[in-house]
Amino acid sequence: MKIHNLLNENEQQLSQFQQQFADDVLDGLLARPKQISAKYFYDERGSILFQHISAHEDYYLTRVEHEILTNIKDEIATTIAVNEIDIIELGAGDGHKTRIIIDGLNKAGIQVNWYPIDISKKAMQQIDDQFQSNEHLTIHGVIAEYLSGLKHVRDISTNQQLVLFLGSNIGNLNRFQSRRFLKQLQEIMKPGDYAMIGFDLKKDIGMLTAAYNDSDGFTKEFNLNLLTRINRELGGNFNTDHFSHFGTYNPIIGAMESFLISELEQKVYIDALEQEFIFEEFEPIHLEYSFKYTLSEIGRMAEDADFS
Ligand code: AVJ
Repeated sequence: MKIHNLLNENEQQLSQFQQQFADDVLDGLLARPKQISAKYFYDERGSILFQHISAHEDYYLTRVEHEILTNIKDEIATTIAVNEIDIIELGAGDGHKTRIIIDGLNKAGIQVNWYPIDISKKAMQQIDDQFQSNEHLTIHGVIAEYLSGLKHVRDISTNQQLVLFLGSNIGNLNRFQSRRFLKQLQEIMKPGDYAMIGFDLKKDIGMLTAAYNDSDGFTKEFNLNLLTRINRELGGNFNTDHFSHFGTYNPIIGAMESFLISELEQKVYIDALEQEFIFEEFEPIHLEYSFKYTLSEIGRMAEDADFS
């Protein structure tokens, strides 16, 4: 499999990503409330922790989406009904869900060219380990953020496209960002292309909070790992024992939100930013939104972005 790394094609781009990370952490820790973007979760350890979350009883999303895809894989193949399709996948992760779709398409005699795009190098290595190109499937991996990855693939993909955005990854975007994202996606796509997006529906709040506070503490580790990443990559001195994880549902905006809470008043110094940050006792850092939807919201969003 070919892998194209847009994050560190050369030294200069690697440092550009690190520079972006540093800038975002600086902006986020100067903001009130403090915040750090969820896109930085996925270093090597973060990707592994997310896989533990995914496989956990309490995190129903992965299991349910797997079931849905298994149920509709033949229908997807009948709907698409071409000889050859390019699958562009945003945030492919380890690709185990895509395998279901690819198998359904291949079984119906459809040739697949798969372009997994993921910000995580680790995820891309796993895809490389677990998938083989064959006469029915070619794979071109792209390590990049969503939109730059999409634009890169647009220049090399020539067949009709199926864009996959699964796993409720869209949930990290707020209502404004997700609408803008769908519009940008629609503008990149050609008439007759397909998009398949995994939205998580609003549901019982107990079930939601259990999923984002798993009983084995993987979600807590996943959140704390972001501080460890800052320590390693930006020379921070966060003590992860002095922060706790708090995941809660906000019914007004319709999203799970996760925070790290400073358990005491403390100072943290980050070398790369040449700056000290003061945390008050019980001060939160906002890390992630996971927006939940109703069917009618999804329908309206699709219409507003000119999808039918
Ligand atoms: C990968 C963004 C879909 O929001 O459910 C899981 C990430 N965070 N547990 C989600 C996540 C905490 C996940 N997404």
